Amino acid sequence: MTVGFALTGSYCTFDKVIPQVLDFVKKGHDVHVIVSENVQHTDTRFGKSIDFMERLKKITGNPLITSIREAEPIGPKNFLDCLIIAPCTGNTLSKLANGITDTCVTMAAKATLRNKNPLILAISTNDGLSGSARSLGTVLNYKNVYFVPFRQDEYMKKETSLVAEMTKIYDTFAAAINGQQLQPLLLEGKTAQTK
Ligand SMILES: Cc1cc2nc3c(=O)[nH]c(=O)nc-3n(C[C@H](O)[C@H](O)[C@H](O)COP(=O)(O)O)c2cc1C
Repeated sequence: MTVGFALTGSYCTFDKVIPQVLDFVKKGHDVHVIVSENVQHTDTRFGKSIDFMERLKKITGNPLITSIREAEPIGPKNFLDCLIIAPCTGNTLSKLANGITDTCVTMAAKATLRNKNPLILAISTNDGLSGSARSLGTVLNYKNVYFVPFRQDEYMKKETSLVAEMTKIYDTFAAAINGQQLQPLLLEGKTAQTK
């Protein structure tokens, strides 16, 4: 299948997400990576943006989609069977909840939903149970949107943080292309002791 894989600015999860991109390629999928504008322009303590982007290009063998202009044809050409946003920040989640399309990733999401193809979100945000909770609730109720099962990742220290289990991206995809949400959606929370 032809799969879109979009990365947004939850930099701390990239080391868990990039192996999943490789897994899709190894399973024979044609993967097109989309990187949000913030990811393209932000070096952090988790790594340099250019290094992440070069790795992703090498893994998929396809050019990256980096602008709204490049993402727009996903709608009329319908060349993606599915779009996965992993990691999906609180910022991108909240834009999706409010119909805002001002990044290449939200453009790709809008195009995917226009074509009634599955959109899969792997959330990662410290305000999942606070500032972004309303957006999460809204998007959970959207047609053709599926979630990678998620948990509270550190409920003693970061009480409102939610993070998807990135190793479940492929299983979520396999269920979503058959119209099913992988269950259980809500995983047991972790503390520092159980990590
Ligand atoms: C080092 C660093 C780590 C961040 N981690 C997260 C995160 O895990 N989750 C999140 O929602 N935002 C995180 N952010 C903030 C987002 O990058 C920011 O909201 C940005 O506007 C997201 O844009 P995007 O969704 O278009 O990529 C982080 C920012 C920095 C600099």
